[in-house]
Amino acid sequence: MSDPSKHANLSRPLPAIPGRGVVILGSGSAVPSGELTNDELADIVQTSDEWIFQRTGIRKRRICDHAKGESNLTLCTESLRGALAQSNLKASDLDLIICGTITQDFRCPSTACLVAANLGAGTAAAWDLGAACCGFVYSLNVAHDLIRIGTHRRIGVIGCDTISAITDYTNRGVCILFGDAAGAVVLSATDDTTKGCIAQVNKANGTGWHDLYMPTWIENIPENSDWNTVRIGCLQMNGKAVFKFAVSTFQELISETLAKADLPVEAIDMFVCHQSNARILEAAREKFGIPTEKLYVNIDRIGNSSAGSVPLCFDELNKAGKIKPGMKVLFLAFGAGVTWTSSLWQF
Ligand code: COA
Repeated sequence: MSDPSKHANLSRPLPAIPGRGVVILGSGSAVPSGELTNDELADIVQTSDEWIFQRTGIRKRRICDHAKGESNLTLCTESLRGALAQSNLKASDLDLIICGTITQDFRCPSTACLVAANLGAGTAAAWDLGAACCGFVYSLNVAHDLIRIGTHRRIGVIGCDTISAITDYTNRGVCILFGDAAGAVVLSATDDTTKGCIAQVNKANGTGWHDLYMPTWIENIPENSDWNTVRIGCLQMNGKAVFKFAVSTFQELISETLAKADLPVEAIDMFVCHQSNARILEAAREKFGIPTEKLYVNIDRIGNSSAGSVPLCFDELNKAGKIKPGMKVLFLAFGAGVTWTSSLWQF
C-alpha cells in the first residue's frame, strides 16, 4: 500500500490545462406535439387548474404522442440535429455524444448510440448518463472537462426525459408535475482560454433515494409506502420531502458555486435552472435578489421535463438572442438520487 500522505491534496481544485478553452457552438431542442393542460388533468384525477398553478406554476405540459412516432429517441435526435445545424457541423465532426436521460426507449443500447446512428456520427463514442433531472448539467460538466484536459475536441451533449412514459396518471401527487422535452448543445475546444466552465459543483446523497424513485421490482418498494398508490414502473414521489430538499439545496448550490468562482451574484448574467416548481425558483430569486429577467422560467407551458428542462431553457434563450459573448451563465439542477449540480460558464 502506498502512503496517502505522499500524494497530492485531492481536495484542492485541479489547475486549468493551459492553452485550451471550451465554447458552446450551438444549441437545439425538441418538444413533442401533445399538450396536457391542467383542465384536462382535472378530468382524469381530482384536482384543478387553480390548485396546480398555485403550488407549481404549471398550466400545461408536453407529452409524446407515440402514435405519431414521437419518443425519447426522436426528441434526442431532433435536438442534437438542431444543435449541430446551429454549430455548422456534421455529426461526424463529433468525437463523443453524451445523453443525460433516465427514460430511454431501449435499456440497451444507449440512446446516445442510437442518436449517433440516426445522425451519422460514424464511430464517435457514445454513452448515456443517468442522473434524472441532473442528467444534462452533470453531462455538460463531464464533456467540458474532457475537452479541457485534451482527450476530446467536439462533444454533443443532450438532456432529455419523457417522464410521461413512467407516470401513473391516477397519482395526482405526481402526474401534475412532469412532461416531456429535450435539448442539446455542441461543445468545442477553442484557443481562447478565458472561455468555458469557471466553476462547477457535482453532488449526490443516495440516502434520500426513496423520496423520488421508480420501482422496477416489488422488492424496490420501501416497507412504509402507501401501497394504494405505488405502481411498478411508475415514478413515486414524497412531494413534501422533495420540496424541502429542493428549496434549501438549490440556494446552497448557488452560494457554493459563486464562492468557488469568487463572484458576487450580480456578476451572473443569466440563471438557466431546472424547472421543477415555480415556487422553488421564486424562493431562490427572492433570497439572492435576482432580477426576473435573469432567471428564465418556462415551467408554465412545459412542466417539469427532468433532464430536458435545462437545455430546453438554454435553447429558448439562445434562439431569442439572450445569450451573448462575454456573458456569465449559470446552469443549475437538482433531482432524484438525490443529486444536485451546477456549471458556471464564461461565454
Ligand atoms: N390536486 C389537488 N389536491 C392534491 C393534489 C392535486 N394534484 N395532490 C395532492 N393533493 C392534496 C393531498 O391529498 C393533500 O390533501 P389532504 O390534506 O386532504 O391529505 C393536500 O393536497 C396537500 O398535499 P401535499 O402533498 O402536502 O401537497 P403540497 O402542498 O406539498 O404540494 C406538490 C404537492 C407535489 C405540488 C409539492 O409537494 C411539490 O411541488 N414538491 C416538489 C416536487 C418536485 O419539485 N419534484 C421534482 C424534483 S426534480
